Amino acid sequence: MLRRARSDRTSGLTDGLSIRGALPTDAVRLAELSGVLGYPTSTEAITHRLERLLGRGEEAILVAKAPSGQIIGWIHGSEQELLEAGRRCEILGLVVDPEYQGQGVGRRLVVAVERWAVMRGLEQIAVRSNVLRTASHPFYQRLGYTAYGPEFDDAGLPHRWMTRVLG
Ligand SMILES: CC(C)(COP(=O)(O)OP(=O)(O)OC[C@H]1O[C@@H](n2cnc3c(N)ncnc32)[C@H](O)[C@@H]1OP(=O)(O)O)[C@@H](O)C(=O)NCCC(=O)NCCS
Repeated sequence: MLRRARSDRTSGLTDGLSIRGALPTDAVRLAELSGVLGYPTSTEAITHRLERLLGRGEEAILVAKAPSGQIIGWIHGSEQELLEAGRRCEILGLVVDPEYQGQGVGRRLVVAVERWAVMRGLEQIAVRSNVLRTASHPFYQRLGYTAYGPEFDDAGLPHRWMTRVLG
């Protein structure tokens, strides 16, 4: 995975980076980046899902836009209500363009979803971290998430829950 040393992260990318809600016109890039995440998806499928998801207040689909205007990452946060744990936010998907990884883009996206969750009155955020993704576990740890519970199977892949208390 492409990771830049901390001293190299002075390109000004994160200064010029903006985070905003996804738009239907982002579908092409969202589909491309879904492929990077390991879920190759057509633009048409993403367009249809966006049509449904963007109208739901309990879903947040945010994109990171580089100063060039290119979409370089997206995150999907969702409000869930669990019988045993009540309301919480779950990060359902997160990806940063490999060309831009290691420059604080993922952190900005997670922080933005956390803010959205706090505004909805949610006090906890959780994510199923695929243990085979070498980046994702240390990334979430760095952002203050802790793993809990045993490893479990999700779509044939080993995962662990990671969580953080908000606020
Ligand atoms: C995981 C991912 C989203 C991280 O995005 P990113 O923009 O590269 O991460 P950031 O640059 O914002 O890193 C934030 C912090 O995590 C740390 N971090 C990121 N990747 C890391 C890694 N592989 N190992 C250790 N620490 C890591 C960074 O050092 C940084 O810490 P610091 O700012 O305190 O120094 C990105 O690597 C990615 O898209 N991976 C493929 C898809 C994926 O795994 N998605 C998550 C599944 S939900």
